[in-house]
Amino acid sequence: MSGNGSGADRVLAPFGRRALEVVDNHSSGGYRVFSLRDLDGPAPAAGQFYMLAAADRWAQRDERPFLPRAFSVADAVADDEGLRLDFLVDDVGPGTGRLAGLEAGERVWANGPLGRPFSSLPELAPDAAGAILVGGGIGIAPLAILRGQLAERGVATRVLLGFRDREHSGGLDDLFACCEVRLASEDGHAGHKGYVTDLLAVLLEGDDAAAAAVYACGPPAMLEAVRLLCADSGVACELAMESPMACGFGACFGCAVPLAEGGYMRLCVDGPVVGGDQIETALVAGAGHR
Ligand SMILES: Cc1cc2nc3c(=O)[nH]c(=O)nc-3n(C[C@H](O)[C@H](O)[C@H](O)COP(=O)(O)OP(=O)(O)OC[C@H]3O[C@@H](n4cnc5c(N)ncnc54)[C@H](O)[C@@H]3O)c2cc1C
Ligand code: FES
Repeated sequence: MSGNGSGADRVLAPFGRRALEVVDNHSSGGYRVFSLRDLDGPAPAAGQFYMLAAADRWAQRDERPFLPRAFSVADAVADDEGLRLDFLVDDVGPGTGRLAGLEAGERVWANGPLGRPFSSLPELAPDAAGAILVGGGIGIAPLAILRGQLAERGVATRVLLGFRDREHSGGLDDLFACCEVRLASEDGHAGHKGYVTDLLAVLLEGDDAAAAAVYACGPPAMLEAVRLLCADSGVACELAMESPMACGFGACFGCAVPLAEGGYMRLCVDGPVVGGDQIETALVAGAGHR
């Protein structure tokens, strides 16, 4: 099984943070999609993230948060006016709440694209004929841009997405309108009643399991289940993980994750995408999404 240690094509961020204009912000199910216009930055690779902070009403007197927050890029579309970056937000606290409430014309400080992206299919699994994407909750965001990039390369892709309940779901119409998606929900409001990993287990029991590779993003328990299912089936997988990030570029060591071979990696520079065989566990302390 191969992991992400070989090095995917990381896109480097311009030095320093830059002020980007909000061009759209709308609700998408229980989440929000907001878009920024990036006039100077490079196009990100799928799996990379940005550190974002609203230019106003952030880190002011008596006001949390103080630090920027990490967000996976969900789409990046170049047009006449530059690059439009889309983000999917789950409002869980002061930072996500402020970003979820942004209005067009406001500005956001952005540093990115950051981190190690998903590997291409030949890098991850040279013999694989196709990809299986497994997303949970807000973790569907980086899989949307990955799906688009795989489609451009003609890779056959199956998409499995799961949500806890109606309130903790969204982004489908905005980010996955173009393709067939198999859904699961814990409360049964959409698709299979149960976990998205139930759907993955069925696919991996099928005849073509060994001909696929898995890319996943979601809550820690889901990622750990994906990691174990893939290890049992001998299927290569990459996981886009979260851990608490204060800087996003390797300086604070706040995002350390234990490695399978001993020691630690800084998830912001050595991840957030990791090979399933690189890590000891996907159950990372402080990665708060359930
Ligand atoms: C690489 C990466 C990519 C991410 N991509 C997205 C994304 O696309 N969309 C999105 O909505 N969120 C994403 N997150 C999570 C997001 O950064 C956090 O939810 C955010 O930092 C919370 O900030 P806050 O000020 O709103 O809440 P805080 O006051 O910081 O925390 C409120 C609650 O949120 C939970 N929480 C805190 N930090 C995290 C964290 N890093 N991950 C998960 N839960 C946390 C805790 O349980 C806490 O109780 C990503 C995180 C990382 C590390
Ligand atoms: S977030 Fe600071 S080192 Fe990773």
